[in-house]
Amino acid sequence: MALETARHNAVLIRGARIVDPAAGRSESADVAIVDGLIARAAPTSAYVIEADGMILCPGLVDMHVHLREPGHETKETIATGTAAAAAGGFTFVACMPNTTPVLDNPDTLKLVHDRSREADRCGVGPVAAITVNREGRELTDFAALLEAGAVAFSDDGSGVEDDEVMRAAFQRAKTHDALLIQHCEYKSISAGGVMHLGDVSRRIGLPGLDPRSEEAMIERDIALCRETGGRYHVAHISTAKAIHMVREAKAEGLPVTAEVCTHHLVLTDEACGDADPNTKMHPPLRPMGDVDACRAGLLDATIDCIVTDHAPHRAEEKAAGFLAAPPGIVGLETAVGLAARAMIETGLADWPAVIRWFTAGPNRVLGRTPPPIEPGSPADLTIIDTSRRWTVTPGTMSSKGRNTPFIGWELIGRPSCTVRRHQIALCR
Ligand code: DOR
Repeated sequence: MALETARHNAVLIRGARIVDPAAGRSESADVAIVDGLIARAAPTSAYVIEADGMILCPGLVDMHVHLREPGHETKETIATGTAAAAAGGFTFVACMPNTTPVLDNPDTLKLVHDRSREADRCGVGPVAAITVNREGRELTDFAALLEAGAVAFSDDGSGVEDDEVMRAAFQRAKTHDALLIQHCEYKSISAGGVMHLGDVSRRIGLPGLDPRSEEAMIERDIALCRETGGRYHVAHISTAKAIHMVREAKAEGLPVTAEVCTHHLVLTDEACGDADPNTKMHPPLRPMGDVDACRAGLLDATIDCIVTDHAPHRAEEKAAGFLAAPPGIVGLETAVGLAARAMIETGLADWPAVIRWFTAGPNRVLGRTPPPIEPGSPADLTIIDTSRRWTVTPGTMSSKGRNTPFIGWELIGRPSCTVRRHQIALCR
C-alpha cells in the first residue's frame, strides 16, 4: 500500500466508531488531537480526517516482524519495513534479531532504535537474541540488553535446541522478568524438509518437514517453564497438537502465551501444490485441521495474538525454486484484510475481536500499556475502513519485499490511517 505522511498540530477525526478492547469500549464519537495529545475539542483550523463508518482503535501491534537491518538491506531496511508497517495500520512492531550482526549486543539495539526514530513511521521494539550470534550455546547479557531497550528475547529463525542452554535461558528470564519467544523447531527433526510432511508433500514429491519438530520443542519448553517459572511465548504456532499443549499449560496456570501468523489462518499446504516459493515458510503451511485449530485457538484465547512474521526476501532469492528459496513471506500490508478473511468473513468473530488480537493481545504479552483513547493521552491510533474492498497489487507496496502468495487476492477491510502523536500516515 502506498503511504503518505504528514505532521499536523491539530487533527479532528470525524464520525468513527471507537473500538478499544482493553477498555471494553465501542461507541461513536469524534476525536480531537492537539499537539499530539487527545483533546476535548479541535480548533477550526484542524486537519480533518473523515472516518464515517470506519473504526478508530488503539494503534495495531505486530510482535513478530523481520526488518532485516543491519546487514540485509537489499531485502528491507528499517525505513521501508516501518513504512510497510504504517501502511498496514501498525503503530508498533517488535523486530526479530536474525540480522547481521545479530541483535545480541546493546550497540546493535541502539542502531535499531536510532534508525527507527529517524524513519518515524512506526514504533519499533527490538527482540534481542537469547544466545550469542543465535548459535544456541552461550546466553546473551539479558540485563544489558533490557537496559538497551530489548522488549523480549528470541533466536528466531532457529530454536534453542540444547536443553541446558534453554533451562539457563528460562532461569535468566525469570530473574529479569523477561519474555522468551521461542521459534519452535528442532532442526535435527526438520532438516531437509521444505513443506509440511503429509499427503500434499507426498503427492507433489517435495521433502516433508515433520510437525514433531515444532511440537517436541513446545513440549520440552513447557516442562522448563513449569520448572523455572520463566515467561514463555510460542512464536508462529501452527499445529493442532501444539495449540492443545498451550491450552493445557494455560489451564495449569503457567506463564505461557502464543501467537499465530495471518498466513496460517488462511492457507493450507494445498497452496504449495504449484511449488510456488512464495508459499514456503517456517513453520510451513499445514492441512485444514491445523488451520481450524489456529482459528479455534484464537477464539478460546489459547492464542493471544495475530502476527505477520513479515519476512522480506529478494525476488532472485525466491526465484531459486521451492527447494533452494529462503522461507518466509511479507505480511504487514495484508495482515488486517487476511485476518478479516479468516475470522470475520467465516462468521467466527467480529471486528472488535480482530482488533483485540492486534492490540490488547500482543500488548499484554509484551507488557506494554499503550495510552487510552481519552483526553490528555498521547495519540496512538489506527483507523480501519472495514468495508473497503481492495486487491493486493505489488506495485503499491511500501515494503521492498514482493514475496507474497496473496497477489491478486481481493480483501475486505483495510487500514486507512495511523496517528502517532503529530505524525499522520495515510494508507492509499
Ligand atoms: O519463514 C520464516 N522466515 N520463518 C522464520 O522463522 C524466519 C523468517 C526469515 O527470517 O526469513
